[in-house]
Amino acid sequence: MKRSLRFPFFLFLLLIALATALSCCRTLGRLGLPSDPLPMPPPLGAAASLNETIVLVSATAAGDVALERDVDDLLSSTFSSSTTSGGRYLSISLRRRPALPDDGRPLSLARLRFPARLPLSAIHRRILPEFRRALRRWSLLRRRFQPEVMSELLALIKRPIDLHFGYPDTGRPYATCAVVGNSGILLNSDHGDLIDGHDLVIRLNNAFTQGYIRKVGGKTSLAFINSNILHLCARRDGCFCHPYGDFVPILIYICQPAHFLDYAICNASHRAPLLVTDARLDVLCARIVEFYSLKQFVKATGRPLEEWRKAHDERTFHYSTGMQAVVLALGICDRVSVFGFGKSAKAKHHYHTNQKAELDLHDYEAEYAFYRDLVQRPQVIPFLNDTGFKVPPVVFYH
Ligand SMILES: *[C@@H]1O[C@H](CO)[C@@H](O)[C@H](O)[C@H]1NC(C)=O
Ligand SMILES: *[C@@H]1O[C@H](CO)[C@@H](O)[C@H](O)[C@H]1NC(C)=O
Ligand SMILES: *[C@@H]1O[C@H](CO)[C@@H](O)[C@H](O)[C@H]1NC(C)=O
Repeated sequence: MKRSLRFPFFLFLLLIALATALSCCRTLGRLGLPSDPLPMPPPLGAAASLNETIVLVSATAAGDVALERDVDDLLSSTFSSSTTSGGRYLSISLRRRPALPDDGRPLSLARLRFPARLPLSAIHRRILPEFRRALRRWSLLRRRFQPEVMSELLALIKRPIDLHFGYPDTGRPYATCAVVGNSGILLNSDHGDLIDGHDLVIRLNNAFTQGYIRKVGGKTSLAFINSNILHLCARRDGCFCHPYGDFVPILIYICQPAHFLDYAICNASHRAPLLVTDARLDVLCARIVEFYSLKQFVKATGRPLEEWRKAHDERTFHYSTGMQAVVLALGICDRVSVFGFGKSAKAKHHYHTNQKAELDLHDYEAEYAFYRDLVQRPQVIPFLNDTGFKVPPVVFYH
């Protein structure tokens, strides 16, 4: 009796946790929005130069001051630890070294309680240095716009996946890839077999497939999650984060720099590769989405570019995990098929949850405009083409 009561309650908690995780990335804010006044738009009528201005504006990356301060705090933080529950759990925390005079910011930077599967000495010897190294590298890479990352994705992402699965290292892209989003429109057709027929199947934010195999397929080659989800996983035994099985590699988009701690802890006990998206890819995606968002804004409202920032909360405006997964696929696949993106009045928001409305963090209209160009005229997409990168054919299934 007790058991049957406990399970639904556990599921309920899990759903709450998932809903929180999926709301994603509230804290990271925008990447590289200029804090200086935006360049003035050209006189009306100059459509071509308006385009150029928008490119310029979305390219004026002044870095995110608050984020860099967070990174500095983390890199210079003090570490403390304790064991709880008779040694079964470890609690670790990172605290900021207080500034003089006190600037009022909280001192606690990160706190994590997790099943003690590593001795404390390993945390000191291995986890902390790994955390600092990964964070430092990430923070350095995101300071500059380096679209060349597109041609490095084969080595950065595909190679470790192939090595793990025992595939030969061909240095060539996958012939076909499916990026499977979580939109309820997936329930309108039976794309399961079609999806599973792709060489690489990427799924987003750990949406489960059980019960939906006919609609969404059952194969997963890469789980793409945001680090809020990893943060929840890190508290579980063995950093359990595997709705698709613990042999499936995981790629993480870092929402908050403190999540590198969760990463370092999970990376120590993972059977499959745990990869972090290259910060240069994050910067590239941010620029592209910003360009389309600015463009949509001017077109839809006729208002000047400066007002875009008032309309979009600059602390939270961001691209979606799905958008980044599509851009990643462009770099490692010869053909890209996209499923479960987009909404419809008749479809549920997510195929696997009952979440109702869109969270206001992403400019989905801007992302859809990007996808339209991706399919119809990829050569006009700014930033992506900066290094002469050639966009492979992309098909969206609705
Ligand atoms: C994660 O773990 C793997 C395997 O142990 C290791 O090779 C890799 O360097 C680790 N990643 C980081 C960023 O430390
Ligand atoms: C630039 O503006 C023109 C006219 O509005 C438009 O047709 C063209 O697609 C734009 N270029 C890009 C890269 O969006
Ligand atoms: C990239 O796209 C922009 C915007 O459409 C265009 O002006 C530029 O010529 C393109 N660059 C290359 C290398 O194709």
